[in-house]
Amino acid sequence: LSRIAYVNGRYVPHAEAAVHVEDRGYQFADGVYEVIAVHRSVLVDEKGHMDRLDWSLGELDIAWPMTPRAMGTVMGEVVRRNRIRDGIVYLQVTRGVAPRNHEFPANAEAAVVMTARRIRPFNVETNSQGIDVITVDDIRWKRCDIKTISLLPNVLMKEQAARAGAYEAWMVDGEGQVTEGTSTNAWIVTKDGDLVTRQTDNKILSGITRAAVMEAAQSAGIEFTERSFTVDEAKTAREAFLTSTTLFVKPVVRVDGEAIGNGHIGTLTARLLDLYSAHMDGQGSGKDSAA
Ligand code: PDD
Repeated sequence: LSRIAYVNGRYVPHAEAAVHVEDRGYQFADGVYEVIAVHRSVLVDEKGHMDRLDWSLGELDIAWPMTPRAMGTVMGEVVRRNRIRDGIVYLQVTRGVAPRNHEFPANAEAAVVMTARRIRPFNVETNSQGIDVITVDDIRWKRCDIKTISLLPNVLMKEQAARAGAYEAWMVDGEGQVTEGTSTNAWIVTKDGDLVTRQTDNKILSGITRAAVMEAAQSAGIEFTERSFTVDEAKTAREAFLTSTTLFVKPVVRVDGEAIGNGHIGTLTARLLDLYSAHMDGQGSGKDSAA
């Protein structure tokens, strides 16, 4: 089976999928993206992702290149043509092709690209394996709430983590507070047992997985607080984990080399992983699909 990509209205072989050299995404990172999980052939939290895409596009004043409903159809088609049962869809919208001038072009048409690939099917047991994080200075800009393709700081910090033998870097703002991971949201269970994740503001991305975990926690009567936490609180936490479309609920067992809890997945983290697993299994029943 050859992979298929979607590029501006056409389904093309992945190897031949290309955009123009003057696409503003290429020259200015002038665009936004989404990564959506496919679980048992169903898009996970499609509506949440489309709502966030709407926010990102709106903040950059890029018009929707097609209706959200049509976007859903194309995503479904990309999943189908690539025969994805478990995987991810990558969707990118840029301001389009125009001669290189910083200001917005008068009449560029937004460009849409989608790719999809398989990932190992979600499994609670393997997802219970903990990972290491390091902490780094958050060198990003002041609009981290926009899911822009401008990811150079994230790339540099993730590389720093990899070179340190860690999986993710937790970024720390000027006040010593953890903002988020380079491609994940950060959570802890404090030494007093409080489940905490940072409030959504301009310093973090409002994660769809984060929202789903909060909703699942709420339904299960598990309390949590949305507030920022320090590196010290993280290092002395009972439990820590991160959330994202591709890592689901993933235990963090070391921060800067210091063990969290007993170095294995924590009790509450395990519970939330189970709840998230159920949330994914419940997809496609209608309640979470886009209108
Ligand atoms: N990253 N924070 C940042 C900076 C992110 O890039 C992401 C997602 C998240 C988690 O959001 P969500 O739960 O909606 O995936 C938080 C995607 C997966 C990526 O860039 O590959």
